[in-house]
Amino acid sequence: MDNISYGLEDISNALEQISSHYISTNTNLAGEPIAKVADAATTTSLSQKYATPDDKPHRIEDVMKEAFEVSDYRVRMNHPCFFGFIPSPVLPLAWLGDVVSTTFNAHGGSRLQSSGPSAIEHGLIHWLACRAGLPAATAGGLAVSGGSMANLTAMAMARDHNLPRAQWHLGTVYVSDQTHSSLAKGLRILGFHEDQVRMVPTDGHFRMDTSALEAMTSKDRDAGRCPFLVVATCGTTNTGAIDPIEEIVRIGRAEKMWVHVDGAYGATALLSNSDSLESLAGAMGGVDSISWDAHKWLFQTYGCGFLLVRDQSLLGKSFRTGAEYTQDALDLDDIPNYWNLGVELTRPTRAMKLWFTLRVLGVEQISSLIDHGIAMAEFAEQRIRQLRNWEIVSPASLAIVTFRFVPPGMTEEELDVLNREISAHLLTENVAGMLTTKVNGKVVLRICSISPSLTREVLESVIAEMDTTARIKMGK
Ligand SMILES: Cc1ncc(COP(=O)(O)O)c(C=O)c1O
Repeated sequence: MDNISYGLEDISNALEQISSHYISTNTNLAGEPIAKVADAATTTSLSQKYATPDDKPHRIEDVMKEAFEVSDYRVRMNHPCFFGFIPSPVLPLAWLGDVVSTTFNAHGGSRLQSSGPSAIEHGLIHWLACRAGLPAATAGGLAVSGGSMANLTAMAMARDHNLPRAQWHLGTVYVSDQTHSSLAKGLRILGFHEDQVRMVPTDGHFRMDTSALEAMTSKDRDAGRCPFLVVATCGTTNTGAIDPIEEIVRIGRAEKMWVHVDGAYGATALLSNSDSLESLAGAMGGVDSISWDAHKWLFQTYGCGFLLVRDQSLLGKSFRTGAEYTQDALDLDDIPNYWNLGVELTRPTRAMKLWFTLRVLGVEQISSLIDHGIAMAEFAEQRIRQLRNWEIVSPASLAIVTFRFVPPGMTEEELDVLNREISAHLLTENVAGMLTTKVNGKVVLRICSISPSLTREVLESVIAEMDTTARIKMGK
């Protein structure tokens, strides 16, 4: 290593720089641009200047400058007024937990390589599974990169457990018209054709219509198909709706289907203190598997999700492999070799960062941060209801509310354009990242209010600005 062009002191300086940058931006998040998007000329220039490695080395401090320049072009997903998609209001504590965990770079694949961190993953998963109401004696799971991977892993298990190999071509899966696109993607990866995926309609509250589910499964059975999996959602991305999970479990059991809950976003509500969510664990406890992302509403940096399963032994049946070169990493009874429970062999110790946050904050504080997000969306709904010519399209549910400006005398097409313009204006003016989605085929504005740093005052002024913008745009 003698000819290497940097020393540990350079690394220490860079660390100091990055931590002071982190602290200064996080103490003034509101002063940051919400979205800084590079134009085509800038992306070309960034790529030409920096992307391709040179033959010669560069000084760390110069490359740090480049990294800052490049990373400046991003949406601040942690900005308190970024309400789009699922925001990522990472707690500074979670960032620290991530740094701590990557410091050791433990290999989370086997008990041999990460007996300490694997013990934490095992214990934390057990705790999450119990919060979800799954049976303590058999439940388990693993940390994964996020909701898409958790959903894929669960569906592979469902297929292997519930659909004999010779019937794969006959299998049918039931999702709702509000189910996240990662489920359809996962099914495609697993080899299912589009005509094997049934889209169950939703009711007026965007919840799966269980009578339609029942009718569709029995029609398929009668036609010789094999219904083997139904996916419910706890917290749809569009409107935060929670499917009638208990009823779906009842139908799933009657039809011998695997019941998976995509709780990538909304399973976090299991940690809420809200009375209205008290029955959630009772319902979730009846299902076979649950996706639950920590990089969404548990305030972690990206790449931190969980799959929880009712019967951990079934994961091994789908994912266990054996190879000569892994034989020294013995599978013992106390904690699993996680490489046998999922897709990845080499894997980071993702659970460590969530553990760090929960350990420092304690559950009560995390619960109040979650409840804060729920209350903010309810507050937004209440304020918007007081404004003239605004319509609530879906009331606040799990910290998501959707709405649109509907002045009289405009066609649906004109309303779509107008609401898109309001959204674009608020973003350009750095007021809010209040992006649009489509609900019932109409363009709506959407607030996902999970940021712990969002206050009533700020939300109130964003809503006032939104209303002013709408009236100016209407007059044009
Ligand atoms: C309900 C739901 N499921 C799954 C996903 C996919 O999760 P990820 O982006 O972590 O893969 C998302 C992402 O927003 C989601 O909202």
